[in-house]
Amino acid sequence: MVEKIKTLMKKAPFVRAFLKTRFCRAMMFWPGVWRYRLALLSSDRGPHEAFTRFCRNPSQLPALTGPTLDFLDPASLGRPLRIVVLACSTGAEPYSFASAIVHERSDIEFEMVAGDINQELVEKCQQGVYTREEVYNHETLCDDFVSRTFVSDDGQAYHVRSNIMKHVEFMPLDALDTNLVEKTGKADILMLQNVLLNVEPDLAHKMFVNMLSLLNEKAVVFLDGVDLHQRAELTERHGLEPLNYQVQKIHDEVWQIRKDGWPQLYWGVEPYWPHRKDALRHYATIYLHETK
Ligand SMILES: C[S@@+](CC[C@H](N)C(=O)[O-])C[C@H]1O[C@@H](n2cnc3c(N)ncnc32)[C@H](O)[C@@H]1O
Repeated sequence: MVEKIKTLMKKAPFVRAFLKTRFCRAMMFWPGVWRYRLALLSSDRGPHEAFTRFCRNPSQLPALTGPTLDFLDPASLGRPLRIVVLACSTGAEPYSFASAIVHERSDIEFEMVAGDINQELVEKCQQGVYTREEVYNHETLCDDFVSRTFVSDDGQAYHVRSNIMKHVEFMPLDALDTNLVEKTGKADILMLQNVLLNVEPDLAHKMFVNMLSLLNEKAVVFLDGVDLHQRAELTERHGLEPLNYQVQKIHDEVWQIRKDGWPQLYWGVEPYWPHRKDALRHYATIYLHETK
């Protein structure tokens, strides 16, 4: 018995090396992809799911203040940059992005309109007050972000700073409303994140197409939290080009939150597989739109 264990241990480095080979990883990855396709077909979605967090995808923030703004060139617009955030839940997402722009790009004038279908959530957003648990609900949130985004006298109630709040207007918004543009106006940047995955594919398709009608001729779309195949197909069909910036890093952040659901639950997400032919389009969460 002891000899058997010793032999196995000697083999272990080879086993470990084998597990790291592309062949072995592919054998673990592709069955998962098909298992996940089944999960998508067979599971009920959660359209009322409202999970959110501050700096949910931290690397999307520099993607916004860097290449997204470089692409849009706000100085050339002759008006404030307009950002629309749909399905914003309790407001962590719009406040995180607004804070990043105020902090990193104080030269830029911008207006943000954000909303959710759920009136109670919209009221929470408008108050701009969060508990300590709501603010610190993941380890990767840095103290710098907290101190430049909130003021808190007692360490319990965190108030979003007025220099950030003044940029954001909250209102009830239904992403399926075909008159949405009358409420939000057109967008240079549009965020529709972590809602398409929670609704049935045909509704997700409708929401995506409705969202397109809000875009200015040159615009950037943030689109995390959607079935990756559906996103690749829709973005390609509608001429959105993936932004080639920290794609793997951002996907890894998404995966950290959703890996426990893959491949058996609809809200899971596959690990980054660099050998896909269309890896950039498949894993990107940010897309550029330009009407030719
Ligand atoms: C999981 S949360 C996503 C929050 C945020 N976007 C984020 O990424 O952290 C999904 C939100 O979508 C909202 N929602 C669902 N259907 C919607 C619709 N038709 N229009 C607008 N919001 C909707 C829900 O109320 C919920 O707050």
